Amino acid sequence: MKRRIQSLLLLWISAAGLLSAQVSPEERRRISELSDADHKQMMEQLGISSLRPGPSANPNAPNAANADEAKVPPYFLPDPLELNNGIRVTRPEQWPARRAEIFELFDREIYGRVPANVPSVRWKVTDVKEDKDGDFPVKIKQMEGVVDNSSYPTVEVIIRLTLGTPAGADKPVPVILEFGFPGWVERPRAGELTWKQQLLKEGWGWAVLNPASIQADHGAGLREGIIGLVNKGNPRKPDDWGCLRAWAWGASRALDYFETDPDVDARRVAIEGLSRYGKAAAVAMAYDTRFAVAFIGSSGAGGVKLLHRLFGEQVENLASPAEYHWFAGNFLKYAGPLTQEDLPVDGHHLVALCAPRPVFISAGSSTAEGPWVDAKGMFLGGAMAGPVYELLGKKSMRTMLFPPEGTLIDGDIAFRQHEGGHTTGPNWPYFIQFAKRYFAQ
Ligand code: GCU
Repeated sequence: MKRRIQSLLLLWISAAGLLSAQVSPEERRRISELSDADHKQMMEQLGISSLRPGPSANPNAPNAANADEAKVPPYFLPDPLELNNGIRVTRPEQWPARRAEIFELFDREIYGRVPANVPSVRWKVTDVKEDKDGDFPVKIKQMEGVVDNSSYPTVEVIIRLTLGTPAGADKPVPVILEFGFPGWVERPRAGELTWKQQLLKEGWGWAVLNPASIQADHGAGLREGIIGLVNKGNPRKPDDWGCLRAWAWGASRALDYFETDPDVDARRVAIEGLSRYGKAAAVAMAYDTRFAVAFIGSSGAGGVKLLHRLFGEQVENLASPAEYHWFAGNFLKYAGPLTQEDLPVDGHHLVALCAPRPVFISAGSSTAEGPWVDAKGMFLGGAMAGPVYELLGKKSMRTMLFPPEGTLIDGDIAFRQHEGGHTTGPNWPYFIQFAKRYFAQ
């Protein structure tokens, strides 16, 4: 019960944009005012005068988000296998052309473009120590990725990364790279191993990337961080990158570092994240084919969930001043003059971009985690990407029927709704088994 309340609270608090309790009320007010102002200037750039408000994440509010399956209206999804000119992709050789079209749509309309002139990152190890994590000896390295800011010295970006590998390993090991959730403390049940211990037990390593060190998680920070550095402190243009793309860019830079670290087998690196970082993990996997496997935790709206589906969080929430910074400015249009029906791509396209690489889609229980993340919408995001996996000779989920909680749907796209709340926790053992198939040598 305590875990359930904790997880619902996290979802709700973060939905209200109030995450990070360590922030003072004054700072919170400053962030919210600056975010509002930046949101407004983006609306002006787009010529939009008003946006529709989203439904509430609070299930008791009068405008609570839809949580009733019977009230989901019919919707029609764009087809990942139909080229913009209407021709159907039927052969694997045609996929790269369609894939490029889908990237262009995500770049322009959803996540934004990574600028061509992003400065380089110089990695340095700032600390190495050997430790014991439970029964497992581990070598922990602290790294800093210093971004070259000679083009705009006012903004400094230092990416923070921690790597833990089994101490004494005699060869490079697979690593699971996690987008760290600030303030989130893992509480494994008595007798259970933490995710890091589970990986060390396998002889694998873990890594935690600090997303805020790449780009702050609010609109007020968009003139700083890697986005602000490239823009020299100016506001974004409507197709400039948002935080999700920036965090994913940072994960790719971490992977650059792994390619130089003899403790890591950079060909066997998986990307993992929860919630907003589940979205970021999906984006990182889609855009960087060097990630071998993905573990996408409760990514919800703006992740692999189908936004065409009116259940849980909606486009209007994502486009609000509390969350728009995750996306390109252009995305706001879908909560203004346009609607979710006009989206040219959806969660299934995002999964399709990961093909043929393996993706594990994780959700919490519909009661403990609640309806906001829309577990079924995430399942369908994976299921509807199936034809692309099949086209490329891989295994889809082979079902469109949302399975009962606890069922593992196990293709090269996998899905499992665990019994817990807003966490990837209980799905770690299943993900590890899944990844093992691909990591076995
Ligand atoms: C809010 C938000 C979600 C997001 C979540 C989180 O609930 O509406 O889209 O995934 O915060 O990151 O915890």
